[in-house]
Amino acid sequence: MSLILGIESSCDETAVAVVRDGFEVLSSEVASQIAKHAVHGGVVPELAAREHLKALTPVTEAALRTAGAAMSDIDAVAVTQGPGLMPALLVGINYAKGLAAAHRLPLIGVNHFIAHIYGAFLDDGASALTDAATYPLLALVVSGGHTSLLLINRDGTARCLGSTIDDAAGEALDKGAKLLGLGYPGGPVMQRTAEGGNPERFDFPRPLTGAAGKALAPENRYNFSFSGIKTALLYHVRRHAGPDGGLPPELLRDTVASYQYAVVDVLVRKTLAAVREYHPGTVVVAGGVACNSELRRIMAERLPGTLRLRIAPPRYCTDNAAMVGGLGWHSFRRGDFAAADLDGFARLPAISRVPFLSPEAD
Ligand code: KG4
Ligand code: ZN
Repeated sequence: MSLILGIESSCDETAVAVVRDGFEVLSSEVASQIAKHAVHGGVVPELAAREHLKALTPVTEAALRTAGAAMSDIDAVAVTQGPGLMPALLVGINYAKGLAAAHRLPLIGVNHFIAHIYGAFLDDGASALTDAATYPLLALVVSGGHTSLLLINRDGTARCLGSTIDDAAGEALDKGAKLLGLGYPGGPVMQRTAEGGNPERFDFPRPLTGAAGKALAPENRYNFSFSGIKTALLYHVRRHAGPDGGLPPELLRDTVASYQYAVVDVLVRKTLAAVREYHPGTVVVAGGVACNSELRRIMAERLPGTLRLRIAPPRYCTDNAAMVGGLGWHSFRRGDFAAADLDGFARLPAISRVPFLSPEAD
């Protein structure tokens, strides 16, 4: 039995978790900085770093307390290495290094993007992960920073089929909400505003889907583009705004419903195209946007019934440290530890393998 302490500080959530043997989440504490950043309309990296510094010790203490564990029970410290905001990442990494050194524990660097996918297997996913019928596994990662389709084979090799060429899906929702004066973060507020609205009233573009008679270049088959939807929203608002510059309530609701549907429709269409070409055993939808009730509903509705769809509960979709502690355990049991000079990385590196499936460990 091994206990891993996971630490996450890549964006505006300070999170610490204790995870037993890769799957059993004993605690998952998240201190959100949303209120601090909301006044700026988005995340300010230096502010995030300062807030992480303040929150890390109390959040770590809370995670240990909830898990009923002491630092002397912990077997390794796993920390998000990237991608993310560098000032924010460095605070978590240095805190993790300090803890690991003080308690003579191994340190493990975790890729945040892969951790999001792993989040779908926490709590009840151990058997799915080892089941050959799960593969190839198609993962759609949709967050504030990423929109990518990744194909993962049983032997752990992986290939990115496509990514966004401009904004991420979450970013499109955040920017759309900002434009409409709905506040930050945009995803949850858009979902609430859209409730009961008509998603087909306004026809926002579906970029890179071959819709509207536009030819789709083969290299863009699995790429995404969301900046055009945002621009269309800007023109839509200009056309329909009242004298105060805003949209009347009933128009606002249908606008948000249609905008949200355009984003969701693109995500589902691209995933379906990949399903038809690669015949995965399971589709995983991960990242903050996977909380979206319309995305969850429409994805389940349109995917073939024979296919397994795994979407984590919302607490493991948005940023959390359980996914970090869980994924870190796989490196721990392989003895794949980080050096004392572990550094952060801001951008997502090319992914050719995932650490939760490795021939050596199985
Ligand atoms: O995974 P995450 O917490 O952080 C990143 O790694 O980026 O994702 C945050 C993103 C934000 O863009 C937020 O608006 C979006 O996830 N989000 C949602 C919902 N909840 C969070 N988007 C749509 N519907 C939601 N319910
Ligand atoms: Zn994230």
